[in-house]
Amino acid sequence: MSLSPNILITGATGTIGKELTKHLAEKNVPFRAMVRSIDAAKELARLPQAELIEGNFDNVASVENTLIGIEKAFLLTNSSENAEIQQINFVKAAKKAGVKHIVKLSQWAADVHSPVRFLKYHAVVENFIKESGIEYTFLRPNLFMQGLLGFRETIIKQNQFFGAVGDSQISIVDIRDIAEVAVVSMTEGGHKNKFYNITGPESISHYEMAEMLSSELGRQITFVDVTSEMLQNMLLGVGFPEWQAKGLVEDYAHYKLGEASEISPDVEKLTGKPARNFADFAKDHAELFGVKI
Ligand SMILES: NC(=O)c1ccc[n+]([C@@H]2O[C@H](COP(=O)([O-])OP(=O)(O)OC[C@H]3O[C@@H](n4cnc5c(N)ncnc54)[C@H](OP(=O)(O)O)[C@@H]3O)[C@@H](O)[C@H]2O)c1
Repeated sequence: MSLSPNILITGATGTIGKELTKHLAEKNVPFRAMVRSIDAAKELARLPQAELIEGNFDNVASVENTLIGIEKAFLLTNSSENAEIQQINFVKAAKKAGVKHIVKLSQWAADVHSPVRFLKYHAVVENFIKESGIEYTFLRPNLFMQGLLGFRETIIKQNQFFGAVGDSQISIVDIRDIAEVAVVSMTEGGHKNKFYNITGPESISHYEMAEMLSSELGRQITFVDVTSEMLQNMLLGVGFPEWQAKGLVEDYAHYKLGEASEISPDVEKLTGKPARNFADFAKDHAELFGVKI
């Protein structure tokens, strides 16, 4: 089968990217995926609709090469201190290559004046894309439910997970819904120069998450609220780089202020079905948390 994809997916091997590329393949949409290593992207390579090309956000020439012939690009990097410059360089390369539309994975409440470093850099990049004249769609998801998988070990071994968030309500979202919104934005018309707030269908506290997880797993799971300092030390202790650990602590402070509790209708508007709730997430991931052990 000969493919001539005009869409490029970055971050294709990551949490959202894996779901996004799976859906593109199901819809039989040919796409090019920029990966750091083709050898390490075996799962992606198995999709007949995927054309893999090596590219690294830190190497502008390689990024320019991935963009040849591309009309629409999905831009996602992980959040590191390099993310802002990596994404800005990507936009410059896209402009040079004549890319018409960028769908950027941003974050709920992105704001250049935010004290939260992630929200600030996402907003800086959003503005840069707007100023470039390239058409855009900004996807601004709230806290990922799948983030709880980062506590898989403590949930399995100690029946607990941690956060510095008190009992604040968050309209936490399943990444499967983010990916589905991304697929619609990448493959259907009507999304130029729009931004979407991507949330779950309910706003819940971490204590409520623990209750729902307990009833799904059949054993008591406890949410332990810790101080920002304790959270930062825990994150550093499990190997998070300092910039990211501090960023996550800032993120939690923003959640604690109740700034991420609003529920958006955008998932249902774009996908035509209600966003998944936390109980759905708990049910679908129960095995990973050691169901009924
Ligand atoms: N976690 C949350 O609750 C939350 C909430 C809202 C928004 N967000 C945003 O979501 C984004 C992260 O999404 P995610 O969880 O799907 O990411 P992820 O799982 O960390 O995946 C990152 C992807 O980027 C690729 N990548 C990393 N460095 C690269 C480089 N130098 N060149 C080329 N590719 C590179 C990785 O490829 P490899 O396979 O080679 O590593 C991987 O495919 C961030 O922008 C974050 O701000 C997160």
